[in-house]
Amino acid sequence: MIPPENLVERYRRRFQPRWSDRLRLALEPPAPMIMNRREPKDFPLGRWNLYIGGAGRRVEGYVNLDLFAVPGVDVAADAHCLPFPGALFQRVECDAVLEHVRDPERMVREIERVMAPGGYLHLVTPFCHPFHEYPKDYRRFTPDGLKLLAGDMEVVAEGWRTGPTATALVFAIEYAKLLVPWRAWRAAAHFVLGWLLFPLRYLDLALMRSPYASRLGNHCYLWLRKRGTGQTG
Ligand SMILES: C[S@@+](CC[C@H](N)C(=O)[O-])C[C@H]1O[C@@H](n2cnc3c(N)ncnc32)[C@H](O)[C@@H]1O
Repeated sequence: MIPPENLVERYRRRFQPRWSDRLRLALEPPAPMIMNRREPKDFPLGRWNLYIGGAGRRVEGYVNLDLFAVPGVDVAADAHCLPFPGALFQRVECDAVLEHVRDPERMVREIERVMAPGGYLHLVTPFCHPFHEYPKDYRRFTPDGLKLLAGDMEVVAEGWRTGPTATALVFAIEYAKLLVPWRAWRAAAHFVLGWLLFPLRYLDLALMRSPYASRLGNHCYLWLRKRGTGQTG
C-alpha cells in the first residue's frame, strides 16, 4: 500500500531527520501532556513481541508492523489480517492505532489470535483529542468502549494515560492555529503557545487523581491478558 505524501514526509522526518528537522526538533516546545506515572509498563516481553503502527520508528525487541513499507517497519500489512501463525506473541503494543482502523473489534480478535496464551496486549486510544489522520481518523474511545473490545481476555489494568489539562492544552493550541490564515503563522502559534502553556501540564499530576478527570481525559489505556498459560520459546 502506498502511504499518502504527507505521511511519507512525517515518517521520513522521524526516521531520517535532516539538520533542519533536528533544529526544528530542538526548538519544538515540550509536549502539552505528561504521562500518568501509574500506568503499568512492565508486563513481560517474550521471544516474539509485536508493535502495531510504529512507522518511522525503530522499536527494539518487537516486530514492527505497519500499513506501509517505510523505514523502520519490519512487516507491512493491515492489522485486520495479521500474516503470522496463532499463539506467537507474548506482548503486543497497539498505541494510538485503533482510532485509525475501520473495524477495531475485528482487529483486536486478530491480535488475540496471534497472542500466546498468558500474553499481554496494551491498548491506548484517544478520548478527547483533535482529529489526526494516519492515514484516516474514524473514532474516539471511552474507557468503557475500549473494554468492550476485550472479549474473552482478562482486564489486568486500566486508566488514563494523559489527563484533562492535556485535553485543554491541545485544543487551545489547535484552536489558536485555526484563527490564523497562513501556515507560517500556524507554526508560530504552535511554537509560542506551546512554550507558554506547557508548564500547565503538571496540573494533571493532581487532576488525574480526580474522579471527574474522566470527563475530559485525553488518552486512556487498557492492559489485557489472554487466558491460559504459556511462554513463547
Ligand atoms: C498515530 S500513529 C501511532 C503512533 C505510534 N504508536 C508511535 O508511538 O509512534 C498510527 C499508526 O497506525 C498505522 N495504522 C493505521 N491503520 C493501520 C492498520 N489497519 N494496520 C496497521 N497499521 C495501521 C498508521 O500507519 C500509523 O503509523
